[in-house]
Amino acid sequence: MILREVFAQTSRSLRSCGIEYSARDARALCAFAVGIEPDQVTIEANMEVTVLQQEILLPLIRKRCERMPISRIIGNRLFWGRQFEINKYVLDPRGDTETLIALALRQPAKKFLDLGTGTGNIAVTLLCEWPEAHAIATDISPDALKVAKRNAVSHKVIERLDLRERDWFKNISSTFDLIISNPPYIGEDEIEKLEKDVKTFDPLISLSPGKDGLIAHRQIARDAYNYLEVGGRLILEIGSFQGAKLKQILNLSGFKEIETHKDLDGYDRVVSCVRN
Ligand SMILES: C[S@@+](CC[C@H](N)C(=O)[O-])C[C@H]1O[C@@H](n2cnc3c(N)ncnc32)[C@H](O)[C@@H]1O
Repeated sequence: MILREVFAQTSRSLRSCGIEYSARDARALCAFAVGIEPDQVTIEANMEVTVLQQEILLPLIRKRCERMPISRIIGNRLFWGRQFEINKYVLDPRGDTETLIALALRQPAKKFLDLGTGTGNIAVTLLCEWPEAHAIATDISPDALKVAKRNAVSHKVIERLDLRERDWFKNISSTFDLIISNPPYIGEDEIEKLEKDVKTFDPLISLSPGKDGLIAHRQIARDAYNYLEVGGRLILEIGSFQGAKLKQILNLSGFKEIETHKDLDGYDRVVSCVRN
């Protein structure tokens, strides 16, 4: 069979199991199975697809029909223009988290701390953008740290990144000019209401800290002050309704210049503040 036929068949299979953007997803899966980029599928429409490649494609289609996101199926996610390996142990990095990056980049940091690094997308991106910077990145999950390490190696920043298995700040003894984090923030009651794609495939520990969703933020807000240089910044991702509450917490912890920032969809997504 040639790629054009395989693509059409894949698109039909996805459509028949209710996948909304079946052609877009078929393009991504076919490209992955035959080892080309999705934007080459039309150009290569007449290439022969081997039986082995067709066999590789079948379980990919099945997984998509089970609503596994494409990024998880192919094990890669584009974040701030770079590819990051993902697997079942890490949160699939979200476009919204690029709001943190845009904000962090407004002011260079020499030494920063990324709490709950997951794939390492935040730490690795900032280290790539700031070639002079060094960072510590922590996560409570050793399996996530293995992924972060591979991403740091593939983006050639591993010499400047110290990855540590830690419960937030536990046993961290340095100070930083930036602390940045996308902590889990889905409230206990909201988990059931999440899209199937999210609640089935992202690890629970990366989504929810339990209760009202702000447990991790409270812990970070309480301790961050002592780990920041004077004038150092704290940047935290939030759920869209958590801004006011977190601002109150940060105010009580002694921070100044506490501001909420919106993501591209216009939702409150980040709170930033400065150590007095
Ligand atoms: C929302 S994910 C963010 C991952 C990545 N930074 C990103 O932006 O895509 C939260 C991360 O925090 C980690 N985490 C959860 N509880 C933690 C804790 N007590 N200490 C350190 N990391 C924790 C999870 O394992 C997960 O990798």
